[in-house]
Amino acid sequence: MAGQAISPDYPFESRYIDVLGSRMHYVEQGSGDPVLFLHGNPSWSYLWRNIIPHLSPLARCIAPDLIGMGKSDKPDIEYRFFDHVRYIEGFIEQMGLRNLSLVVHDWGSALGFYYAMRHESNVRGLAFMEAIIMPVPSWEMFPESSRAIFQGFRTPDVGWDMIVNKNMFVEEILPAKIVRKLTKEEMDHYREPFQHPAARKPVWRWPNELPIAGEPADVVETVERYNRWLQRTDLPKLLFYGSPGELVPAPVVDWCRQHLKNLEAVDIGEGIHYLQEDNPHLIGSELARWYPELARR
Ligand code: BEZ
Repeated sequence: MAGQAISPDYPFESRYIDVLGSRMHYVEQGSGDPVLFLHGNPSWSYLWRNIIPHLSPLARCIAPDLIGMGKSDKPDIEYRFFDHVRYIEGFIEQMGLRNLSLVVHDWGSALGFYYAMRHESNVRGLAFMEAIIMPVPSWEMFPESSRAIFQGFRTPDVGWDMIVNKNMFVEEILPAKIVRKLTKEEMDHYREPFQHPAARKPVWRWPNELPIAGEPADVVETVERYNRWLQRTDLPKLLFYGSPGELVPAPVVDWCRQHLKNLEAVDIGEGIHYLQEDNPHLIGSELARWYPELARR
């Protein structure tokens, strides 16, 4: 499985649903209880293209594009974390999703954990990778290789110029945080939603929402809350981690092993932040191994 080729193709039929007056795009494969795949910044459901086929024989796999991202609409909103909460939870509601399992990455993890904390009885299991598990207490604790550029992203005007005018999150952060080199075809899929500077506000907002050194206070408080819940809940958990990782390096993997109940941790080998682009078939085959165990609990 792990040696299988990584496909650039996105062989899914596009579907749309109205949420809060905007169209949210999603893809859906398979039948049974739903598994919701939530991406982060600056990606979209394209990120899951090589993973969904492993699980779709076993479950109803649903991968939406967050509002303002991928092929979803781009309403004129602030794109704060709490805006995304309204849209993604509206999506779950409109789709009538019950007995959900979550497969989440990056900001998709914050959205998924926050949802699961408040709707635990509707959730069967949590699979996560390069997730936002706890606030970063100080800039010294933020990965050194990303520190200066993220400080730039969070500097008023400077960050807007870097992300909105220069498209640095897509053109520099994304390829830098994948071990292999994405092909032009793959990069073009990631470029597509953000061709025009006017579309890039969501990409700019996300690094400004990261809970670092106490800011933004409302996101820090929310991440602290769901972190305490993660330590209490008995829900089955599957953590994928790579080396060296970025948001989930070895010390955070150790923290998870020590503090989270019913956790399995799977080493995907070399990976930085976008683990799905480095070892999607291992992630997919491990999900397909883990998922049936949820039904037996
Ligand atoms: C983020 O979007 O949270 C992120 C992306 C790449 C590296 C680090 C963080």
